[in-house]
Amino acid sequence: MKDSIFLKALDQKINSVPPVWFMRQAGRYLPEYQAIRKNYTNFLDMCKQPRTCAELALQPIERFKLDASILFSDILTIPDALNLGLAFHEGEGPKFSRPISSPEDIKNLQAFDVNALDYVFKAVEETKNILPRDLPLIGFCGSPWTLAAYSIEGGGSKNFSKTKNFMADHPDALEELLEILTDACYEYLKQQVLSGVNALQIFDSWADLLLIEELDKFSLRYTHKLVQLLKQDSVTSGTPIILFEKAPKKRIVDIAFDGISCMSLHWQEDIGHVANDLKNRFSIQGNLNPKILLGSDELIWRETRKICTQMNDFPGFIFNLGHGITPDINPAKVMIMIEATRA
Ligand code: CP3
Repeated sequence: MKDSIFLKALDQKINSVPPVWFMRQAGRYLPEYQAIRKNYTNFLDMCKQPRTCAELALQPIERFKLDASILFSDILTIPDALNLGLAFHEGEGPKFSRPISSPEDIKNLQAFDVNALDYVFKAVEETKNILPRDLPLIGFCGSPWTLAAYSIEGGGSKNFSKTKNFMADHPDALEELLEILTDACYEYLKQQVLSGVNALQIFDSWADLLLIEELDKFSLRYTHKLVQLLKQDSVTSGTPIILFEKAPKKRIVDIAFDGISCMSLHWQEDIGHVANDLKNRFSIQGNLNPKILLGSDELIWRETRKICTQMNDFPGFIFNLGHGITPDINPAKVMIMIEATRA
C-alpha cells in the first residue's frame, strides 16, 4: 500500500504519472454491471449483498487497471437505516415512502443504529479480500446536507422545492436533523475505516442548491464538524479525507478547511485557478466534464491532456471526472481518457 500513487497524491506528493479513478466507476455504463444488475429489481437489495458489492467494485479495476477502488454502495444507506422507506424504482432514481415532512418527523425519528449498516461493513471486508493487495479502497458518505435534502424531498427533484420550503419554515428543525446526520456519518465512516477502507470521500452533491450564507450554515458547518470528529478519533485520524462539492456558490479556496486532504472539483471549476489557490495546502482531484466522453477520441485526448498539463507539477494531483459517469458512455471512451492521462 505504501507504493500507492493515489495515497501519495493524497499526501501532496508529485507522481510522474497521475493516479486515476472516477466517480461512479462501477455502474450502468458497464455491460458486466448490467449483467448482475438485471437479477435485482430494487437497486438497494443489490447493495445489501456484500459479495455482489465486492464483485461490482472489482469490475472497473479489472477492465481499466485504475489506481483506486471505491466501495460499491450508495450515499442513501443512512436515510434507509433511519427507516424512511427508500426504494429505487426502474428508471426513476431514489424514492422515499416516508420522507421527513415536518419538525415532528424529526422528533420521532428512530435512533440511528450503525449496526443496521452491517452489510456495508461486510462489503468493505469482502472487497478488500478480492482487490489487488496494494490497491487502496475509498469509503464514502453523503454530506449531512445532501442526505437531509434527499430525506426531506423524498427523492431526487429538479429544484428541491420541498427542501427549500422546509429550510425557510423550520430552520431550527433542519439543524436538528443535520446534527443527527452528522453523528450518523461519523459512526458510519469510522466503521468503514475499521473494516478496511484506506481513504474517505464526502459527497456534497446538493451543494449547488444553497446560496453562499446557506452553504456555510446548512452544509459546510456540518461537514466541518464531521471532519473534526474523524480527525479527533484515533481510529480515523490518519485516514485522508476527500471533499466533493457540486458546483458550490463559494470559491473552493474559501471552502477547503483543515482536516481535509483533497478537494474534488466539479467540472465547472477552473482547475488551473484552483490549483494556484490550493498549492501546498490541499491535494486536488478532478475534473473532466463527463460529457466530454460522448465526444470524439481526439476531443477526449485533448481535454484530458489540457487538465494533466495544467496539473503537471502540482503536488497532489489525482485525475478524475468532474462528476459521476453516466450510463450513456461507451467504456471504450473511458479507456481513451485513461490512456491520455497516463501518456
Ligand atoms: O463506483 C461507484 O462510485 C459506485 C458507488 C456509488 C454509487 N452511488 C452507486 C450507484 C457511489 C459513490 C454513489 C454515490 C451517490 N449516490 C451520490 C453522490 C455522487 C453524485 O453523483 O453526486 C448520489 C447523489 C447518490 C444517490 C443516487 N444513487 C441517485 C440519485 C441514484 C439514481 C440516479 C443514478 O445516477 O442512477 C443512485 C443509484 C445508483 N448508485 C446507481 C449506482 C451504480 C445506479 C442504480 C442502478 O443500477 O439502477
